[in-house]
Amino acid sequence: MKSLERSRADIDHLDAKMASLYTQRMATVRDIAAQKQAEGLPIRDPGREQTVLERNLARIADPDLRPGYAALLRRQMAAARAYQEKLLSRAELCVQLADSVCPIYLKDGALQDADRYLELDRRVCIVTDDGTPPEYAAALADKCAAPMIVTVPAGEGSKSVAVWTDLLQRMQYAGLTRSDCVAAVGGGVVGDLAGFAAASYLRGIDCYQIPTTLLAMADASVGGKTALNYGGVKNAVGAIRQPRAVLMDPTVLQTLPHRQLANGLAEILKMALTSDPMLFALLRQPEPPLRDILLRALNVKIAVVEQDERETGLRRVLNFGHTLGHGIEAACGGRLLHGECVGLGMLPMCAPQLRPQVEAALTGLGLPTRAEFDPEAALAAIAHDKKTDACGIRTVRVDEIGQWRLETVQLSDLRPMLRGLLPNP
Ligand SMILES: NC(=O)c1ccc[n+]([C@@H]2O[C@H](COP(=O)([O-])OP(=O)(O)OC[C@H]3O[C@@H](n4cnc5c(N)ncnc54)[C@H](O)[C@@H]3O)[C@@H](O)[C@H]2O)c1
Repeated sequence: MKSLERSRADIDHLDAKMASLYTQRMATVRDIAAQKQAEGLPIRDPGREQTVLERNLARIADPDLRPGYAALLRRQMAAARAYQEKLLSRAELCVQLADSVCPIYLKDGALQDADRYLELDRRVCIVTDDGTPPEYAAALADKCAAPMIVTVPAGEGSKSVAVWTDLLQRMQYAGLTRSDCVAAVGGGVVGDLAGFAAASYLRGIDCYQIPTTLLAMADASVGGKTALNYGGVKNAVGAIRQPRAVLMDPTVLQTLPHRQLANGLAEILKMALTSDPMLFALLRQPEPPLRDILLRALNVKIAVVEQDERETGLRRVLNFGHTLGHGIEAACGGRLLHGECVGLGMLPMCAPQLRPQVEAALTGLGLPTRAEFDPEAALAAIAHDKKTDACGIRTVRVDEIGQWRLETVQLSDLRPMLRGLLPNP
Protein backbone atom coordinates (compact mmCIF):
# COMPACT_ATOMS: atom_id res chain seq x y z
CA MET A 1 0.00 0.00 0.00
CA LYS A 2 1.16 3.52 -0.80
CA SER A 3 1.96 5.81 2.10
CA LEU A 4 -0.57 8.53 2.96
CA GLU A 5 1.96 11.14 1.94
CA ARG A 6 2.48 9.55 -1.44
CA SER A 7 -1.27 9.27 -2.06
CA ARG A 8 -1.73 12.93 -1.13
CA ALA A 9 1.07 13.90 -3.52
CA ASP A 10 -0.74 11.92 -6.24
CA ILE A 11 -3.99 13.78 -5.50
CA ASP A 12 -2.16 17.12 -5.63
CA HIS A 13 -0.70 16.17 -8.98
CA LEU A 14 -4.12 15.12 -10.33
CA ASP A 15 -5.70 18.34 -9.01
CA ALA A 16 -3.06 20.39 -10.81
CA LYS A 17 -3.80 18.50 -14.02
CA MET A 18 -7.54 19.02 -13.56
CA ALA A 19 -7.04 22.76 -13.01
CA SER A 20 -5.06 22.96 -16.22
CA LEU A 21 -7.66 20.88 -18.11
CA TYR A 22 -10.46 23.06 -16.69
CA THR A 23 -8.71 26.20 -17.98
CA GLN A 24 -8.34 24.57 -21.41
CA ARG A 25 -11.98 23.47 -21.37
CA MET A 26 -13.20 26.99 -20.58
CA ALA A 27 -11.00 28.47 -23.32
CA THR A 28 -12.79 26.15 -25.76
CA VAL A 29 -16.13 27.10 -24.23
CA ARG A 30 -15.22 30.73 -24.98
CA ASP A 31 -14.56 29.83 -28.65
CA ILE A 32 -17.87 28.00 -28.83
CA ALA A 33 -19.65 31.06 -27.37
CA ALA A 34 -18.17 33.23 -30.15
CA GLN A 35 -19.20 30.69 -32.82
CA LYS A 36 -22.73 30.43 -31.43
CA GLN A 37 -23.01 34.20 -31.40
CA ALA A 38 -21.80 34.42 -35.02
CA GLU A 39 -24.35 31.80 -36.11
CA GLY A 40 -27.18 33.10 -33.90
CA LEU A 41 -27.47 29.79 -32.02
CA PRO A 42 -28.84 29.53 -28.45
CA ILE A 43 -26.40 28.93 -25.61
CA ARG A 44 -28.30 25.95 -24.24
CA ASP A 45 -28.50 22.79 -26.31
CA PRO A 46 -30.21 20.17 -24.10
CA GLY A 47 -29.90 17.39 -26.74
CA ARG A 48 -26.13 17.77 -26.91
CA GLU A 49 -25.82 17.97 -23.12
CA GLN A 50 -27.60 14.61 -22.81
CA THR A 51 -25.33 13.00 -25.43
CA VAL A 52 -22.20 14.31 -23.70
CA LEU A 53 -23.46 13.05 -20.36
CA GLU A 54 -24.27 9.54 -21.61
CA ARG A 55 -21.04 9.20 -23.60
CA ASN A 56 -18.87 10.23 -20.66
CA LEU A 57 -20.75 8.16 -18.11
CA ALA A 58 -20.12 5.09 -20.23
CA ARG A 59 -16.40 5.73 -19.67
CA ILE A 60 -16.78 5.19 -15.91
CA ALA A 61 -16.52 1.47 -15.28
CA ASP A 62 -17.34 1.49 -11.55
CA PRO A 63 -21.13 2.00 -11.14
CA ASP A 64 -20.58 3.42 -7.63
CA LEU A 65 -18.66 6.33 -9.14
CA ARG A 66 -21.23 7.18 -11.80
CA PRO A 67 -23.71 9.33 -9.78
CA GLY A 68 -20.91 11.51 -8.44
CA TYR A 69 -19.34 11.85 -11.88
CA ALA A 70 -22.72 12.70 -13.45
CA ALA A 71 -23.22 15.46 -10.85
CA LEU A 72 -19.72 16.81 -11.53
CA LEU A 73 -20.31 16.84 -15.27
CA ARG A 74 -23.71 18.54 -14.93
CA ARG A 75 -22.12 21.22 -12.80
CA GLN A 76 -19.37 21.70 -15.35
CA MET A 77 -21.92 22.09 -18.11
CA ALA A 78 -23.86 24.61 -16.02
CA ALA A 79 -20.64 26.53 -15.33
CA ALA A 80 -19.85 26.53 -19.06
CA ARG A 81 -23.34 27.85 -19.83
CA ALA A 82 -23.05 30.55 -17.18
CA TYR A 83 -19.64 31.54 -18.59
CA GLN A 84 -21.04 31.74 -22.13
CA GLU A 85 -24.01 33.76 -20.96
CA LYS A 86 -21.68 36.16 -19.21
CA LEU A 87 -19.49 36.51 -22.29
CA LEU A 88 -22.47 37.16 -24.53
CA SER A 89 -24.47 39.27 -22.12
CA ARG A 90 -25.04 42.90 -22.99
CA ALA A 91 -25.18 43.64 -19.31
CA GLU A 92 -22.68 45.96 -17.73
CA LEU A 93 -22.41 43.72 -14.68
CA CYS A 94 -23.10 40.07 -13.89
CA VAL A 95 -23.25 37.85 -10.85
CA GLN A 96 -21.63 34.67 -12.06
CA LEU A 97 -21.99 31.58 -9.90
CA ALA A 98 -21.10 27.96 -10.61
CA ASP A 99 -24.43 27.16 -12.19
CA SER A 100 -26.10 30.47 -12.92
CA VAL A 101 -25.46 33.92 -14.23
CA CYS A 102 -27.50 36.96 -13.31
CA PRO A 103 -27.01 39.95 -15.61
CA ILE A 104 -27.46 43.40 -14.09
CA TYR A 105 -28.62 46.03 -16.55
CA LEU A 106 -27.94 49.54 -15.30
CA LYS A 107 -29.15 52.18 -17.71
CA ASP A 108 -31.14 55.40 -17.63
CA GLY A 109 -34.51 54.73 -19.25
CA ALA A 110 -34.09 50.92 -19.12
CA LEU A 111 -37.60 50.51 -17.67
CA GLN A 112 -39.18 51.96 -20.81
CA ASP A 113 -37.21 49.39 -22.85
CA ALA A 114 -37.61 46.47 -20.45
CA ASP A 115 -38.48 43.98 -23.20
CA ARG A 116 -35.03 44.48 -24.71
CA TYR A 117 -33.47 43.05 -21.58
CA LEU A 118 -36.02 40.69 -20.05
CA GLU A 119 -38.11 37.80 -21.40
CA LEU A 120 -41.56 39.33 -21.08
CA ASP A 121 -43.31 37.25 -23.71
CA ARG A 122 -45.09 35.20 -21.02
CA ARG A 123 -47.29 35.71 -17.99
CA VAL A 124 -45.56 38.21 -15.70
CA CYS A 125 -46.78 38.79 -12.16
CA ILE A 126 -45.61 42.32 -11.37
CA VAL A 127 -45.40 42.95 -7.63
CA THR A 128 -45.20 46.53 -6.42
CA ASP A 129 -46.31 48.51 -3.36
CA ASP A 130 -48.59 51.49 -2.93
CA GLY A 131 -45.70 53.81 -2.03
CA THR A 132 -43.89 53.20 -5.32
CA PRO A 133 -45.21 55.49 -8.07
CA PRO A 134 -47.61 53.27 -10.07
CA GLU A 135 -46.20 54.42 -13.41
CA TYR A 136 -43.15 52.16 -12.93
CA ALA A 137 -45.18 48.95 -12.72
CA ALA A 138 -47.41 50.28 -15.53
CA ALA A 139 -44.35 50.94 -17.76
CA LEU A 140 -43.23 47.35 -17.26
CA ALA A 141 -46.75 45.97 -17.82
CA ASP A 142 -46.81 47.87 -21.10
CA LYS A 143 -43.95 45.72 -22.34
CA CYS A 144 -45.37 42.36 -21.20
CA ALA A 145 -47.45 39.97 -23.28
CA ALA A 146 -49.66 38.95 -20.34
CA PRO A 147 -49.09 41.12 -17.26
CA MET A 148 -50.88 41.17 -13.93
CA ILE A 149 -50.07 43.76 -11.27
CA VAL A 150 -50.31 43.00 -7.55
CA THR A 151 -49.97 46.06 -5.31
CA VAL A 152 -49.22 45.41 -1.64
CA PRO A 153 -49.18 47.99 1.17
CA ALA A 154 -45.87 49.85 1.45
CA GLY A 155 -43.71 49.04 4.45
CA GLU A 156 -42.03 46.23 6.31
CA GLY A 157 -45.45 44.78 7.26
CA SER A 158 -45.75 43.39 3.73
CA LYS A 159 -42.84 41.01 4.33
CA SER A 160 -45.33 38.75 6.14
CA VAL A 161 -46.71 35.27 5.73
CA ALA A 162 -50.19 36.75 5.25
CA VAL A 163 -49.19 38.99 2.32
CA TRP A 164 -47.04 36.21 0.81
CA THR A 165 -49.97 33.75 1.01
CA ASP A 166 -52.26 36.26 -0.65
CA LEU A 167 -49.71 36.79 -3.41
CA LEU A 168 -49.34 33.05 -4.03
CA GLN A 169 -53.13 32.74 -4.22
CA ARG A 170 -53.28 35.40 -6.90
CA MET A 171 -50.48 33.76 -8.85
CA GLN A 172 -52.25 30.43 -8.68
CA TYR A 173 -55.60 31.97 -9.59
CA ALA A 174 -54.00 33.64 -12.62
CA GLY A 175 -52.67 30.21 -13.66
CA LEU A 176 -48.95 31.04 -13.59
CA THR A 177 -46.91 28.04 -14.73
CA ARG A 178 -43.26 27.08 -14.36
CA SER A 179 -42.33 29.03 -17.48
CA ASP A 180 -43.98 32.26 -16.25
CA CYS A 181 -42.27 34.75 -13.96
CA VAL A 182 -42.50 37.32 -11.17
CA ALA A 183 -41.12 40.86 -11.44
CA ALA A 184 -40.48 42.96 -8.33
CA VAL A 185 -40.91 46.68 -8.99
CA GLY A 186 -40.15 48.61 -5.80
CA GLY A 187 -37.78 48.80 -2.88
CA GLY A 188 -36.21 46.05 -0.80
CA VAL A 189 -39.53 45.11 0.81
CA VAL A 190 -41.14 44.31 -2.55
CA GLY A 191 -37.93 42.61 -3.71
CA ASP A 192 -37.75 40.33 -0.66
CA LEU A 193 -41.47 39.48 -0.78
CA ALA A 194 -41.73 38.92 -4.55
CA GLY A 195 -38.40 37.09 -4.59
CA PHE A 196 -39.62 34.69 -1.92
CA ALA A 197 -42.93 34.17 -3.72
CA ALA A 198 -41.02 33.34 -6.92
CA ALA A 199 -38.63 31.04 -5.03
CA SER A 200 -41.46 29.12 -3.38
CA TYR A 201 -44.17 29.00 -6.09
CA LEU A 202 -44.05 25.67 -7.95
CA ARG A 203 -40.68 25.09 -6.24
CA GLY A 204 -39.24 28.15 -7.94
CA ILE A 205 -39.97 30.21 -11.03
CA ASP A 206 -38.02 33.04 -12.66
CA CYS A 207 -37.84 36.36 -10.86
CA TYR A 208 -36.76 39.73 -12.22
CA GLN A 209 -35.68 42.32 -9.73
CA ILE A 210 -36.45 45.89 -10.83
CA PRO A 211 -35.37 47.96 -7.82
CA THR A 212 -36.67 51.51 -7.48
CA THR A 213 -34.92 52.62 -4.27
CA LEU A 214 -31.20 53.24 -3.94
CA LEU A 215 -30.97 50.69 -1.14
CA ALA A 216 -32.57 48.02 -3.29
CA MET A 217 -30.34 48.91 -6.26
CA ALA A 218 -27.07 48.85 -4.35
CA ASP A 219 -27.84 45.93 -2.10
CA ALA A 220 -31.18 44.12 -1.77
CA SER A 221 -31.84 43.27 -5.44
CA VAL A 222 -28.48 41.58 -5.98
CA GLY A 223 -27.41 38.26 -4.49
CA GLY A 224 -30.63 36.27 -4.41
CA LYS A 225 -31.53 36.65 -0.74
CA THR A 226 -35.29 36.75 -0.22
CA ALA A 227 -37.14 36.94 3.07
CA LEU A 228 -40.23 37.39 5.19
CA ASN A 229 -40.37 38.52 8.80
CA TYR A 230 -41.85 35.89 11.10
CA GLY A 231 -42.54 35.51 14.83
CA GLY A 232 -41.25 39.03 15.43
CA VAL A 233 -37.89 38.17 13.86
CA LYS A 234 -36.73 40.08 10.81
CA ASN A 235 -35.95 37.95 7.77
CA ALA A 236 -36.69 34.79 9.79
CA VAL A 237 -38.04 32.90 6.75
CA GLY A 238 -36.55 33.01 3.31
CA ALA A 239 -34.58 31.44 0.52
CA ILE A 240 -31.51 32.15 -1.52
CA ARG A 241 -32.40 32.02 -5.20
CA GLN A 242 -30.73 34.14 -7.84
CA PRO A 243 -32.96 36.43 -9.89
CA ARG A 244 -33.03 35.74 -13.64
CA ALA A 245 -31.85 39.34 -14.14
CA VAL A 246 -31.79 42.71 -12.40
CA LEU A 247 -32.90 45.83 -14.27
CA MET A 248 -31.90 49.18 -12.78
CA ASP A 249 -33.15 52.44 -14.21
CA PRO A 250 -31.61 55.22 -12.09
CA THR A 251 -34.12 57.78 -13.46
CA VAL A 252 -36.72 56.29 -11.09
CA LEU A 253 -34.69 57.65 -8.18
CA GLN A 254 -35.91 61.15 -9.10
CA THR A 255 -39.17 60.47 -7.26
CA LEU A 256 -37.46 58.97 -4.22
CA PRO A 257 -37.68 61.20 -1.12
CA HIS A 258 -34.33 62.55 0.05
CA ARG A 259 -34.51 60.58 3.28
CA GLN A 260 -34.91 57.32 1.35
CA LEU A 261 -31.93 58.24 -0.82
CA ALA A 262 -29.81 58.76 2.31
CA ASN A 263 -31.12 55.43 3.58
CA GLY A 264 -29.57 53.73 0.54
CA LEU A 265 -26.35 55.68 0.92
CA ALA A 266 -25.96 54.16 4.39
CA GLU A 267 -25.73 50.64 2.92
CA ILE A 268 -23.27 51.97 0.34
CA LEU A 269 -21.20 53.52 3.14
CA LYS A 270 -21.16 50.07 4.74
CA MET A 271 -19.57 48.61 1.59
CA ALA A 272 -17.09 51.48 1.40
CA LEU A 273 -15.97 51.07 5.01
CA THR A 274 -15.49 47.33 4.80
CA SER A 275 -14.19 46.96 1.27
CA ASP A 276 -13.50 50.05 -0.84
CA PRO A 277 -11.57 53.16 0.32
CA MET A 278 -12.10 54.81 -3.09
CA LEU A 279 -15.86 54.48 -2.67
CA PHE A 280 -15.51 56.10 0.75
CA ALA A 281 -13.69 59.02 -0.89
CA LEU A 282 -16.49 59.39 -3.45
CA LEU A 283 -19.08 59.43 -0.66
CA ARG A 284 -17.19 62.25 1.06
CA GLN A 285 -17.52 64.53 -1.97
CA PRO A 286 -20.01 67.40 -1.54
CA GLU A 287 -22.18 66.06 -4.41
CA PRO A 288 -21.50 62.32 -4.53
CA PRO A 289 -21.69 61.12 -8.19
CA LEU A 290 -24.56 58.65 -7.91
CA ARG A 291 -23.86 56.43 -10.91
CA ASP A 292 -20.16 55.95 -10.05
CA ILE A 293 -21.08 55.24 -6.48
CA LEU A 294 -23.71 52.71 -7.47
CA LEU A 295 -21.32 50.94 -9.84
CA ARG A 296 -18.60 50.67 -7.20
CA ALA A 297 -21.06 49.47 -4.57
CA LEU A 298 -22.40 46.86 -6.98
CA ASN A 299 -18.90 45.64 -7.68
CA VAL A 300 -18.34 45.11 -3.95
CA LYS A 301 -21.65 43.29 -3.58
CA ILE A 302 -21.07 41.11 -6.65
CA ALA A 303 -17.56 40.12 -5.53
CA VAL A 304 -18.88 39.10 -2.13
CA VAL A 305 -21.82 37.11 -3.51
CA GLU A 306 -19.67 35.38 -6.13
CA GLN A 307 -17.29 34.18 -3.45
CA ASP A 308 -19.88 33.25 -0.85
CA GLU A 309 -23.42 32.94 -2.17
CA ARG A 310 -24.77 31.14 0.92
CA GLU A 311 -23.25 33.35 3.62
CA THR A 312 -20.91 30.76 5.08
CA GLY A 313 -18.07 33.24 5.47
CA LEU A 314 -17.23 36.32 3.43
CA ARG A 315 -20.85 37.35 2.85
CA ARG A 316 -21.09 38.11 6.57
CA VAL A 317 -19.20 41.30 5.78
CA LEU A 318 -22.49 42.64 4.44
CA ASN A 319 -23.85 42.41 7.98
CA PHE A 320 -21.53 45.20 9.12
CA GLY A 321 -23.61 47.53 11.30
CA HIS A 322 -26.59 45.19 11.15
CA THR A 323 -26.39 43.52 14.57
CA LEU A 324 -26.85 46.80 16.45
CA GLY A 325 -28.81 48.24 13.50
CA HIS A 326 -31.53 45.58 13.64
CA GLY A 327 -31.79 46.04 17.42
CA ILE A 328 -32.16 49.81 17.13
CA GLU A 329 -34.67 49.37 14.28
CA ALA A 330 -36.81 47.10 16.46
CA ALA A 331 -36.50 49.39 19.49
CA CYS A 332 -37.40 52.67 17.83
CA GLY A 333 -40.85 51.56 16.68
CA GLY A 334 -40.50 52.50 13.02
CA ARG A 335 -39.26 56.06 13.61
CA LEU A 336 -35.95 55.31 11.89
CA LEU A 337 -35.37 53.70 8.51
CA HIS A 338 -33.32 50.52 8.05
CA GLY A 339 -30.30 52.33 6.56
CA GLU A 340 -30.37 54.98 9.29
CA CYS A 341 -30.22 52.22 11.91
CA VAL A 342 -27.43 50.41 10.06
CA GLY A 343 -25.50 53.69 9.90
CA LEU A 344 -25.81 54.07 13.67
CA GLY A 345 -24.96 50.39 14.16
CA MET A 346 -21.69 50.80 12.26
CA LEU A 347 -20.31 53.51 14.54
CA PRO A 348 -19.40 51.41 17.61
CA MET A 349 -18.05 48.70 15.30
CA CYS A 350 -15.38 51.03 13.89
CA ALA A 351 -12.02 51.50 15.59
CA PRO A 352 -12.07 54.61 17.85
CA GLN A 353 -9.61 56.52 15.62
CA LEU A 354 -11.92 55.98 12.64
CA ARG A 355 -15.09 57.07 14.35
CA PRO A 356 -14.84 60.86 13.76
CA GLN A 357 -14.41 60.23 10.01
CA VAL A 358 -17.38 57.88 9.92
CA GLU A 359 -19.53 60.30 11.93
CA ALA A 360 -18.61 63.08 9.49
CA ALA A 361 -19.50 60.82 6.54
CA LEU A 362 -22.89 59.93 8.07
CA THR A 363 -23.67 63.59 8.75
CA GLY A 364 -22.58 64.57 5.24
CA LEU A 365 -24.95 61.98 3.76
CA GLY A 366 -27.85 63.26 5.89
CA LEU A 367 -27.82 60.30 8.28
CA PRO A 368 -28.12 60.40 12.09
CA THR A 369 -25.20 59.72 14.44
CA ARG A 370 -27.33 59.67 17.60
CA ALA A 371 -30.91 58.50 18.24
CA GLU A 372 -33.53 58.22 20.92
CA PHE A 373 -34.36 54.56 21.65
CA ASP A 374 -34.51 52.13 24.55
CA PRO A 375 -31.16 50.26 24.66
CA GLU A 376 -32.72 47.40 26.67
CA ALA A 377 -35.42 46.88 24.04
CA ALA A 378 -32.69 46.89 21.37
CA LEU A 379 -30.69 44.30 23.33
CA ALA A 380 -33.78 42.10 23.68
CA ALA A 381 -34.35 42.29 19.94
CA ILE A 382 -30.70 41.39 19.25
CA ALA A 383 -30.96 38.41 21.62
CA HIS A 384 -33.94 37.29 19.52
CA ASP A 385 -32.03 37.81 16.28
CA LYS A 386 -30.81 34.93 14.14
CA LYS A 387 -27.16 35.88 14.52
CA THR A 388 -27.25 35.12 18.25
CA ASP A 389 -26.16 31.70 19.47
CA ALA A 390 -24.78 30.16 22.66
CA CYS A 391 -21.20 31.04 21.69
CA GLY A 392 -21.94 34.74 21.44
CA ILE A 393 -22.69 37.16 18.66
CA ARG A 394 -20.47 37.41 15.61
CA THR A 395 -19.95 41.02 14.68
CA VAL A 396 -18.03 42.65 11.85
CA ARG A 397 -15.39 45.18 12.93
CA VAL A 398 -13.60 47.76 10.80
CA ASP A 399 -10.18 48.96 11.98
CA GLU A 400 -9.16 50.72 8.78
CA ILE A 401 -11.24 51.76 5.80
CA GLY A 402 -11.40 48.77 3.47
CA GLN A 403 -10.38 46.22 6.11
CA TRP A 404 -12.67 44.17 8.29
CA ARG A 405 -12.57 41.24 10.67
CA LEU A 406 -15.04 39.10 12.59
CA GLU A 407 -15.25 39.37 16.36
CA THR A 408 -17.44 37.35 18.68
CA VAL A 409 -18.89 39.36 21.54
CA GLN A 410 -21.35 38.66 24.35
CA LEU A 411 -24.76 40.31 24.42
CA SER A 412 -23.79 42.37 27.48
CA ASP A 413 -20.81 43.86 25.57
CA LEU A 414 -23.32 45.55 23.28
CA ARG A 415 -25.06 47.49 26.06
CA PRO A 416 -22.44 50.29 26.39
CA MET A 417 -22.19 50.48 22.60
CA LEU A 418 -25.95 51.07 22.32
CA ARG A 419 -25.94 53.58 25.18
CA GLY A 420 -23.16 55.47 23.43
CA LEU A 421 -25.55 56.16 20.56
CA LEU A 422 -28.15 57.95 22.70
CA PRO A 423 -28.40 61.76 22.43
CA ASN A 424 -27.05 62.06 26.00
CA PRO A 425 -25.03 58.91 26.57
N1 LIG B 1 -32.41 40.77 0.20
C1 LIG B 1 -31.37 41.46 0.59
O1 LIG B 1 -30.22 41.08 0.35
C2 LIG B 1 -31.57 42.73 1.36
C3 LIG B 1 -30.50 43.58 1.60
C4 LIG B 1 -30.75 44.79 2.26
C5 LIG B 1 -32.02 45.11 2.68
N2 LIG B 1 -33.04 44.23 2.43
C6 LIG B 1 -34.41 44.57 2.86
O2 LIG B 1 -34.85 45.70 2.13
C7 LIG B 1 -35.86 46.36 2.88
C8 LIG B 1 -35.63 47.84 2.84
O3 LIG B 1 -35.67 48.27 1.51
P1 LIG B 1 -35.93 49.80 1.10
O4 LIG B 1 -35.05 50.65 1.89
O5 LIG B 1 -35.88 49.86 -0.36
O6 LIG B 1 -37.39 50.08 1.69
P2 LIG B 1 -38.84 49.92 1.06
O7 LIG B 1 -38.93 48.79 0.13
O8 LIG B 1 -39.77 49.96 2.20
O9 LIG B 1 -39.02 51.27 0.19
C9 LIG B 1 -39.02 52.51 0.86
C10 LIG B 1 -40.22 53.37 0.48
O10 LIG B 1 -39.97 53.97 -0.78
C11 LIG B 1 -41.10 53.80 -1.65
N3 LIG B 1 -40.56 53.82 -3.00
C12 LIG B 1 -39.95 52.81 -3.68
N4 LIG B 1 -39.46 53.27 -4.84
C13 LIG B 1 -39.77 54.58 -4.91
C14 LIG B 1 -39.51 55.59 -5.87
N5 LIG B 1 -38.77 55.37 -6.96
N6 LIG B 1 -40.02 56.82 -5.64
C15 LIG B 1 -40.72 57.10 -4.51
N7 LIG B 1 -40.96 56.19 -3.55
C16 LIG B 1 -40.48 54.94 -3.75
C17 LIG B 1 -41.71 52.51 -1.17
O11 LIG B 1 -43.05 52.43 -1.52
C18 LIG B 1 -41.52 52.61 0.33
O12 LIG B 1 -42.55 53.37 0.89
C19 LIG B 1 -35.82 45.76 4.27
O13 LIG B 1 -36.91 44.92 4.45
C20 LIG B 1 -34.53 44.97 4.30
O14 LIG B 1 -34.60 43.86 5.16
C21 LIG B 1 -32.85 43.08 1.78
